[in-house]
Amino acid sequence: MAERPYIVGNWKMNGTRAMLSEARAIDRAAQRHMKVEVAVAPPYTLIHAVHREVEQIGVGAQDCHAEPEGAHTGDISAAMVADAGAKFVILGHSERRGNHGEDNALVSAKIAAALEAGMRIILCCGESLEMRDSGKAADFVLGQLKACLPDITDAAERVTVAYEPIWAIGTGRTAKTRDIAEMHDAIRGLLIETYGEEAAKEIRILYGGSVKSENAGKILALENVDGALVGGASLTAESFLGIVLAASGSDEE
Ligand code: PGA
Repeated sequence: MAERPYIVGNWKMNGTRAMLSEARAIDRAAQRHMKVEVAVAPPYTLIHAVHREVEQIGVGAQDCHAEPEGAHTGDISAAMVADAGAKFVILGHSERRGNHGEDNALVSAKIAAALEAGMRIILCCGESLEMRDSGKAADFVLGQLKACLPDITDAAERVTVAYEPIWAIGTGRTAKTRDIAEMHDAIRGLLIETYGEEAAKEIRILYGGSVKSENAGKILALENVDGALVGGASLTAESFLGIVLAASGSDEE
């Protein structure tokens, strides 16, 4: 685990202003666990409100458009989410790839746009169950990363990678600890190859897919797991904080 683990909540298409109280509760708890970097990515409609309510936690977006502005009805640019208070963008999530046909080229263009707007990125990768069963998971995931990682070394410190096996997202199934460790080690190897040892050290590799307080400790203890990207369990402060506690190594209730 990284010296300062990074725990990010991805609220997906959940949350109205009623959920601001959860953000406040998460923020208060994060102030007691400064050893852990905590962030949430609410839907676009709540970014500004969450940003105004919190002091400690990071606020991010779940996507952005690849263009800086223009005639793209219904879309939101990186500069817009930055203006609303987002400091990072989650890109390449399998739900975007699956539901909106986003391929590596588009994800890569969005990454460039987000970095250009001065933001940090969380680049998601992960294989389907079919791919895992065929024994090609590592090739597939490393292929996604090779196609999407920005090739500018000085951007490395603004990059976080999230490995999320698609079949483990929202299903209650988590990958075996050994499989997570192997994939994270392989990703670390690729980051060193791409950016060099020093810069690669700055890049955190998160695990995502049905992470909850019960399994977080075991997953976060793995050498190259530097944090977690959490969906379902980030929707209430209570369940999310169980994961923050596991990351802080504290047994406080
Ligand atoms: P989950 O989602 O924790 O609900 O499985 C994780 C994610 O999609 O980021």
